[in-house]
Amino acid sequence: MADTLTIAVSKGRIFKDALPLLAATGVVPQDDPATSRKLILDTNVAAIKLVLIRASDVPTYVAYGAADVGIAGKDVLMEYEGNGIYEPLDLNIARCRLMLAGPPRARTADTRLRIATKYVHTTRRYFAEQGKQVEIIKLYGSMELAPLVKLADLIVDLVDTGNTLRANGLEPLEHIADISSRLIVNKASMKMKHGVVKSFVQRMGEAVQHGQA
Ligand code: ATP
Ligand code: PRP
Repeated sequence: MADTLTIAVSKGRIFKDALPLLAATGVVPQDDPATSRKLILDTNVAAIKLVLIRASDVPTYVAYGAADVGIAGKDVLMEYEGNGIYEPLDLNIARCRLMLAGPPRARTADTRLRIATKYVHTTRRYFAEQGKQVEIIKLYGSMELAPLVKLADLIVDLVDTGNTLRANGLEPLEHIADISSRLIVNKASMKMKHGVVKSFVQRMGEAVQHGQA
């Protein structure tokens, strides 16, 4: 239906930070994902639903039109290689940095480095731009462990307070990108549901401007 809107969002940090923005646009979910096992949440607006998925799956749902819009970290978007998505708005939430990190005085130049990360494409691009070849080991989490057990020399991961690095005796070495969450839109929905999508993007933009996050 042309006037319905499905919003893809991940549980946890992004959901929590997105709630005040959604509330400022007049959208309030009717269930709390921390306590409910539902994956499709009704909102106070009958035509607007939220689908709850893993953070790294949000671009896929939106690209295929299973959701009209979504909220995804720039880290996830940089890693996503598909088409079919517009990225009209920086929501300025879930801010952190994507960094190269490792043990103090880790060598970064002279040997072929082994890098553990879940950001395989982004890491490969980052080193390729410097003309460096590296061996990349794909992990799905707890990257900080890899140098401690000699699985890798360095890691590429998100850093916010730096507490996780410090707690594991690691240091930030190189800044790769500033990260925040973006509103993304399915290209077909932007055409077929232009009114409802445009109005939602506009209201979210106003909420960001007014510092609702
Ligand atoms: P998945 O379930 O797909 O593996 P995830 O476990 O990384 O994802 P979250 O930890 O909720 O999911 O992170 C979601 C997004 O929040 C990340 O993609 C990133 O943009 C942002 N983020 C992650 N860690 C931090 C952090 N420490 N501080 C601020 N933002 C962060
Ligand atoms: C993220 C990221 C780092 C940590 C950085 O993990 O993968 O491990 O946050 O934040 P800090 O610099 O403030 O310590 P998260 O807490 O999301 O855990 P997860 O990736 O295992 O879900």
